[in-house]
Amino acid sequence: MGDLSKPLLEQNNKGRKFEPSLGRRFHTNINRRFHVNSSRKPCWMLRPLSLKRCVLAVTILCLISIVYFSHYIFNSPLTSLIHRNTRPEPNIKCSVMNGPRLPQNHDHKTEARLRSDPKVLVFVETMYSKLGREIAELLVYTRIKYKVEVAGKSLPVLTNLDKGRYGVIVFENFNKYLQMDNWNRELLDKYCREYMVGMIGFINPSEETLVGAQLKGFPLFIHTNLRLRDAALNAASQILRLTRAGETAWGNLPGDDWTIFQANHSTYEPLEWAHRDDDYHHSENAIKTPLPTIVQDHGLYDNIQRVIFGSGLRFWLHRLLFLDSLSYLSHGQLSLSLDRLFLVDIDDIFVGEIGTRLKPDDVKAMLATQDRIQKMVMGFKFNLGFSGKYFHHGNSEEDKGDDLILENIDKFMWFSHMWNHQQPHLYDNLTQLIEDMTLNKNFAREKGIPVDSGYSVSPHHSGVYPVHDILYTAWKKVWNIRVTSTEEYPHLRPARLRRGFIHRNIMVLPRQTCGLFTHTMFIERYPGGREKLDESIQGGELFQTIVYNPINIFMTHMSNYGNDRLALYTFESVIKFLQCWTNIRLKTAPPLQLAETYFKHFPEEADPVWGNPCDDLRHQKIWSRNKSCDSLPRFLVIGPQKTGTTALYTFLSIHPAIASNLPSPDTFEEIQFFNANNYYRGLDWYMNFFPVDANSTNRYLFEKSATYFDGDLVPKRAHALLPHAKLITILISPAKRAYSWYQHTRAHGDVIANNYSFHQVITANDTAPKPLRDLRNRCLNPGKYSQHLERWLSYFSPQQLHIIDGEVLKSDPMEVMNEMQKFLKITPIFNYTTHLRYDPKKGFYCQVINGDHTKCLGRSKGRHYPPMEERSLKFLQRYYLSHNTALVKLLKRIGMRNVPQWLKDDLTDTPT
Ligand code: A3P
Repeated sequence: MGDLSKPLLEQNNKGRKFEPSLGRRFHTNINRRFHVNSSRKPCWMLRPLSLKRCVLAVTILCLISIVYFSHYIFNSPLTSLIHRNTRPEPNIKCSVMNGPRLPQNHDHKTEARLRSDPKVLVFVETMYSKLGREIAELLVYTRIKYKVEVAGKSLPVLTNLDKGRYGVIVFENFNKYLQMDNWNRELLDKYCREYMVGMIGFINPSEETLVGAQLKGFPLFIHTNLRLRDAALNAASQILRLTRAGETAWGNLPGDDWTIFQANHSTYEPLEWAHRDDDYHHSENAIKTPLPTIVQDHGLYDNIQRVIFGSGLRFWLHRLLFLDSLSYLSHGQLSLSLDRLFLVDIDDIFVGEIGTRLKPDDVKAMLATQDRIQKMVMGFKFNLGFSGKYFHHGNSEEDKGDDLILENIDKFMWFSHMWNHQQPHLYDNLTQLIEDMTLNKNFAREKGIPVDSGYSVSPHHSGVYPVHDILYTAWKKVWNIRVTSTEEYPHLRPARLRRGFIHRNIMVLPRQTCGLFTHTMFIERYPGGREKLDESIQGGELFQTIVYNPINIFMTHMSNYGNDRLALYTFESVIKFLQCWTNIRLKTAPPLQLAETYFKHFPEEADPVWGNPCDDLRHQKIWSRNKSCDSLPRFLVIGPQKTGTTALYTFLSIHPAIASNLPSPDTFEEIQFFNANNYYRGLDWYMNFFPVDANSTNRYLFEKSATYFDGDLVPKRAHALLPHAKLITILISPAKRAYSWYQHTRAHGDVIANNYSFHQVITANDTAPKPLRDLRNRCLNPGKYSQHLERWLSYFSPQQLHIIDGEVLKSDPMEVMNEMQKFLKITPIFNYTTHLRYDPKKGFYCQVINGDHTKCLGRSKGRHYPPMEERSLKFLQRYYLSHNTALVKLLKRIGMRNVPQWLKDDLTDTPT
């Protein structure tokens, strides 16, 4: 443990800067030619013979220029004539590459008896502050649970009974912690000590430059607003786990607002050092003093462990150190695994224009790189996705390249792309899709390519997500596909939110992007130039993708392996850089194993959440043209059951501008998509209930499933697919609803309902037989209205929700239908007075047909049964007291002017 006034510098500084290899450039030769010509006289001064020579020279020059520039034109036959020598070679220099590595079992677990949840509490300055957002994004990426709180006057609740809610506290601006009022500060410190919770703080840049300023209450001094360079790590620090010490990150560090620390207490130990920029202006012999830029507080001073950063997360190394600090301070509760599974797909094998395809030398280079990568990642093989139709479609050299790939079949892994590289969403005919896939399979068999990987990738992600069901069917049938991957679920961006799902037993893995696209063939044409690619490899986006994702499938294309072979450069370099700077153990596995590991890690992702393809332009492009967002409902009648939903459904169906779904053969009229197993049948299945025809485009499509109201997952799923939908719910007294449900199940011959009285059912305790408890729950749970409505309102706005008083629906349905049309903004308003009439025999309003007849709901609606026993009513009023009280509050909050009479009655009559 060090005293910061005497900085420790044990790190190995022998490493070199990561210099990009520049390679010789073709244009030097051109310049030389120009030079020769320019020494001659201008053409117009020459004799006829010389003039001829001059024309010849100009022609040759033009030809050379064409050849030189033609490599930018994919299709040019001249491309293959060029010998380019700008191809980058992996040039990661790391002096500690083969040095000692972290033992396999190293983690931050301690003997401490932990009493806090593995969750981070992040205090931000405002909800929009930059560093706060970066911290949250990093936590999302690494799937670490967190809560964001704006640092202010009050503290959030820190404990739950005897358990701490957070394992680490982070301050985006450490000053907010230092300036906290005594009461809160003492409370937070006490929490940290009692629950052994550590703290991370960032010193925020301020305009005023501080020199030797003391951090309030701590023997720690800071010097701010510095420009620094050449960062290195303290190899002795216990915090390092993901991050590996030894190398120096040479060069200027981002920003000119760094803070350095100085301490006079042994509780502080530096974690990272850097140098002042002006050190380098001194003479050769001047001592370059390393300055601590991150310090660890061991808690010897006030019994709280901390890590304090002198700069935010702009510097890539700080992201790793932040994750390591979380792991250390949470006693290993928030540790990420050090294992990373890693696979590189090469899509489009055999697909590509002349000039973009692989020549024998490229294939040899691929094999040589694969051999070298295997030394770092055991068993590594490129995973080749082929489209047989385009085999031997290059020039003679490229055809030899195709042959050489096939001569080395067993050196690679293989998967099927589409035979003709066609996008599957363009097929609406299963038979044709199957035929095309079979052609590719026949090709594979003929060439000896393995056909049993169980993995396939669709060109341009088409049909995988948004799901085109016939693709899944054909994949199963022809290739027995078990795994695929896409970048599109739920959306391409932001990449940190990409997830996996399982549909029809096919595991869909999230795919990572490495910055190389079909057209990325030359280093000069890499967007932003080589510097950008190197930045991504050396601590930037690509490097971080692998650090954050336990399982990585990268997408590359055949064209990235020809010409400048950028994929070979990229992957060999990033693997070396990872080896240099991290203790990550890269491993590889075939796709099936990868997918099984993925869903073992993240079982909660198996369930898909279908989004709306029309909310994402990219998704629209890979969605069948025969599918339309017009065939999705504009509003949902969500229930709950026994409140009058069938009556409402019938009245809605009378309306000329409103149309419901087609009836479901399985569930009578209800589709029950969002709440039950039907959800797994997918979006195509759901949309088939809403066929688009000339009449339906202008109509208000709706769906009614009364079980939606209290389904746990329904609001989330409904919102993902129909974020702009309107919702209609009907409420009656929950006690009455429970009784109506009981009578309903009795009438359906339910044994339990027929053997137990209503009172026995609702008062059954938790030791009662399961079927009795199940019936009790179905009677009681939907009536906890406030709970269910809160869940809906956490996804939908109150303006999207319309609540109907079920008693008014019975007594004055015309008024209810009027109000509802206003809510739905339907014009002109349809007048229901001539369409609904009270039927004294039925005791309810019914539909008027043929002028003077009425058509009422069937016998199962508006049943006759004895009134509820008084004791049951009292029991239920007491049971629902807190729920009903919360409902009144909720209704007021969302602006409902009149509290329903039944709710007032239930609350007024509640026995004490
Ligand atoms: P009861 O049969 O217990 O009286 P749901 O359609 O949601 O299952 O609700 C059935 C309830 O709707 C009936 O419960 C009945 O009270 C109520 N309801 C409201 N308006 C009605 C109408 N016009 N005709 C029949 N029942 C109606």
